[in-house]
Amino acid sequence: MSKRIYVLLFILLCLCRFLPARAQEDIETRVEGILSTLTLRQKIGQMNQLNARKPDEKLYQQIRDGEVGSILNAEDPVLLNRLQQIAMEECNARVPLLFARDVIHGFKTIFPIPLGQAASFNPEIVEKGARVAALETSEKGIRWTFAPMMDISRDARWGRIAESFGEDTYLSGVMGMAMVRGFQGDDLADPTSIAACAKHFVAYGAVEGGRDYNVSYIPERQLRKTYLPPFERSIREAGCATLMTSFNSNDGIPPSANRFLLRDLLRDEWGFDGVVVSDWASVSMMIRQGFCEDRKDAARKSALAGLDMDMTSECFVDYLEELVREGDVPESVIDQAVRNILRLKFRLGLFSNPYTDLSKVSCMYAPAHLEAARQAAAESFVLLKNTGNLLPLSRDIRSVAVIGPLADAPHDQLGTWCFDGEKEMTRTPLQAIREQYGDQVTIHYAPGLAFSREQSVTGFDAAIEAAQQAEVILLFIGEESILSGEAHCLAGLDLVGAQAELVDAMKATGKPLVTIIMAGRPLTMGKQLAQSDALLYAWHPGTMGGPALAGMLWGETAPSGKLPVTFPAHVGQIPLYYNQERIGRPANRKELLLDQIPQEARQSSLGNTSYYLDAGFDPLFVFGYGLSYTTFTYSGLTLSREELSPEETLKVSVTLVNTGSREGTEVVQLYISDLYASVATPEKELKDFCRVTLKPGESRMVEFELPVENLSLWNIDMQRVIEPGKFDLMIGGNSRDVLKASFRVK
Ligand code: GLC
Repeated sequence: MSKRIYVLLFILLCLCRFLPARAQEDIETRVEGILSTLTLRQKIGQMNQLNARKPDEKLYQQIRDGEVGSILNAEDPVLLNRLQQIAMEECNARVPLLFARDVIHGFKTIFPIPLGQAASFNPEIVEKGARVAALETSEKGIRWTFAPMMDISRDARWGRIAESFGEDTYLSGVMGMAMVRGFQGDDLADPTSIAACAKHFVAYGAVEGGRDYNVSYIPERQLRKTYLPPFERSIREAGCATLMTSFNSNDGIPPSANRFLLRDLLRDEWGFDGVVVSDWASVSMMIRQGFCEDRKDAARKSALAGLDMDMTSECFVDYLEELVREGDVPESVIDQAVRNILRLKFRLGLFSNPYTDLSKVSCMYAPAHLEAARQAAAESFVLLKNTGNLLPLSRDIRSVAVIGPLADAPHDQLGTWCFDGEKEMTRTPLQAIREQYGDQVTIHYAPGLAFSREQSVTGFDAAIEAAQQAEVILLFIGEESILSGEAHCLAGLDLVGAQAELVDAMKATGKPLVTIIMAGRPLTMGKQLAQSDALLYAWHPGTMGGPALAGMLWGETAPSGKLPVTFPAHVGQIPLYYNQERIGRPANRKELLLDQIPQEARQSSLGNTSYYLDAGFDPLFVFGYGLSYTTFTYSGLTLSREELSPEETLKVSVTLVNTGSREGTEVVQLYISDLYASVATPEKELKDFCRVTLKPGESRMVEFELPVENLSLWNIDMQRVIEPGKFDLMIGGNSRDVLKASFRVK
């Protein structure tokens, strides 16, 4: 290669290293430039986020006066451009508005609820879904979404478990980063990119009793070990642009005014330079929480603690100017918040490109988007039972009965947090089965119940008749979408309405019974599981749930999903999660259960171990569990070393064999157990996973690399350290059935 090319390459390399830093400098210079032109009132205006309302002169004037920095829930691009024009041409600050919307699992093309997406254990499909959402959302001029939601959720009574990635810290971090990358793309300034928002900061999933908006009491060590890592990774590894504080007070302090969280941890420790927005009116909510005297006190405490933007309470815009004038809030605090907001707007390219191009051809529901949604739905399904390999359905079957309130429920199939998806575009299981298999099988359809909560059994006769005419029953039951999501908590997890009775009636026909459950959470469905020959958990699968389910039932695809959350056998077992800290007296599983206990049993006769007399020892299904249409065996677990120093990496290999007759995809999971440390340690923790697709009979050596630094913990002195000691390493297709090997860290 000639010398000239070497020189050019060297210059190019320098530019590549230099340009991002130069661009950052440019932004900081431009931020300071704009900041210096703003009045105090206009600065505070940037910290004010309004909820869209019918546009009126008052709103126009607020924008003209520079009193609005962001608007959420406006989604008409013509209106957005009109409001933007006022901000850019009629307000002397000339700072663009940032439009925001909750796009949690799709804008128009709806993907599975995030709990279902987590079940795919496939970050690539999650990233693809977020990219599709960004393309559709940004088309309207909306450039900020309030997702990913990464609340570690161990309580299925909490309705918002549906929006989460489940109970595991590692899985939630991997999925949260994937969603951030999908939303933000390679360049936040690209008009098709939207700013992601890591929420809800923090420990909102630990609300007492699984009751929404309740309190949590998570100590710092548990925060750092379990609840904070997905946020830290999304910010430090995926560059998440914004973060939202949560409603719950944790240990008596609402996060919207928690200085330790918002300044010491987020800014000083993690170096976050993005925007922190409150949750909806969570600033003024602090009055009701007994943490603030009034709205002025709420504005003061949250601004001083480091909150940048006030979502809809208008405490900032009503009181911060007065608080600055009175000397209670230094203007430097305002300046820092406004710098973060202006920086975000520069990074989004809004100053140079504030308007939405209305001439673009719409990409809503593009075929590629629908196909991605179908794939995501298929990979989200978890096969929990398949007696006699009833699934996939034999091509010899000539008639099926499609039964249940969720067989043709286009609205409910979309799940919670679906603002812009249209039920008219939903493809339901009934529609898909008719379209894809109507020429091969006779389809007898009867819902049995009009909706999941229906108590009337008047529809049962038609359902029974349909079942009696068919060779197999496909029963679609579960939850309407309104029964999960924000503020939708349940004290019980049994099937609602007369659905259990419907299953009884279907079972009584004696026909093979395939049960498909659509729900936003784990349900206590032990009886229905026993009554079913096969059971597929479909969560709320989104727009393309029907074709995905039909294809899987007839074997065009095979289930590969794994549970991202433990399924309790009884709601009274909650909280119940796989990576619980070790306890001193675990059950030995030989204990007597309720009906085995002799009368007048003496106090100590049952021993002293931890279990429920009436609910036994185990969940219905463990974290990471899921079947396929084939079977896999694991053997030959091998570690590269038996002893390692902290800076080394452990190489792990295991042989996976597809021992069945169909191609299948297995999620190989790697768990670690730290046997003792300066603080109590979990039974086991997921540290890595990978999806492996094998043909029938195919064998493959699956390899992992585990840096010892990934075994760090927060020690008794609250330092993140690697402690020497003995570790077990486990590998398997779920968190219980594993191969085990041991190693030591020096
Ligand atoms: C809601 C939710 C939050 C959402 C916000 C804006 O109350 O808690 O997740 O992003 O308000 O809709």
